[in-house]
Amino acid sequence: MADCCSKAAKESMTKTTSISIPDDYEMPTNSFIVPGCYRSDLKSVIIPEGLIRDRVKRLAQEIHDEIGDQPLVVLCILKGSYRFFTALVDDLTIARHSCATPLVVDFIRAKSYENTETTGELQLFGLSSLGELENQNVLIVEDIVDSGLTMHRLLHTLHSKYKAKKCWTSLLLSKRVPRKIEVPEDFVAFDIPDKFIVGYGLDYNQKFRDLNHICVMSESGIEKYKNH
Ligand code: HPA
Ligand code: MG
Repeated sequence: MADCCSKAAKESMTKTTSISIPDDYEMPTNSFIVPGCYRSDLKSVIIPEGLIRDRVKRLAQEIHDEIGDQPLVVLCILKGSYRFFTALVDDLTIARHSCATPLVVDFIRAKSYENTETTGELQLFGLSSLGELENQNVLIVEDIVDSGLTMHRLLHTLHSKYKAKKCWTSLLLSKRVPRKIEVPEDFVAFDIPDKFIVGYGLDYNQKFRDLNHICVMSESGIEKYKNH
């Protein structure tokens, strides 16, 4: 009989895998409530808000099972992660209800995208003092990893400049594209096809962050809001 308390059994009960959104999975935008101003700029919905909320609840449990009761700085990478971050911190707080050590939140702004392309440069703003992360366990909360370059540079900076002790990455989305550089993807909510998406915090030239669902942009939407 299987031992339900063995290490392997426990791991299989607690370890989740990301939900994989298939390449051809797209739902009509008019089956959902989307702001009227965006309707013609969107091709389809690929992850509705309700599914994100349910998945993040489970992800928070997984993170807590892995990290346990130790002091933790949860670092929001603005702007794209703001909604994922608030949902995750709410759910982590429930998962940590019996913890004796505090959870601290912090915010940093990273900018590397213009139009649908990475600029190749990472600009970081925020963190009022360099000492804030020194010798801390840091859970990085990021909206999306695609080339891996932004996360790679961020991890490098957090270790070398801010002297963080241990960093984990929690990602709302992992895009199925070849990485330019491999980065740790410790906790992933969804992996998605190679399409330019917006919503639930993610932008296209600063628009669409307020959209509740994760959507694929239409060609005309990409053209309409392009920075020339
Ligand atoms: N959408 C928005 N922001 C992004 C994306 C995307 O598909 N990939 C990397 N940053
Ligand atoms: Mg962005």
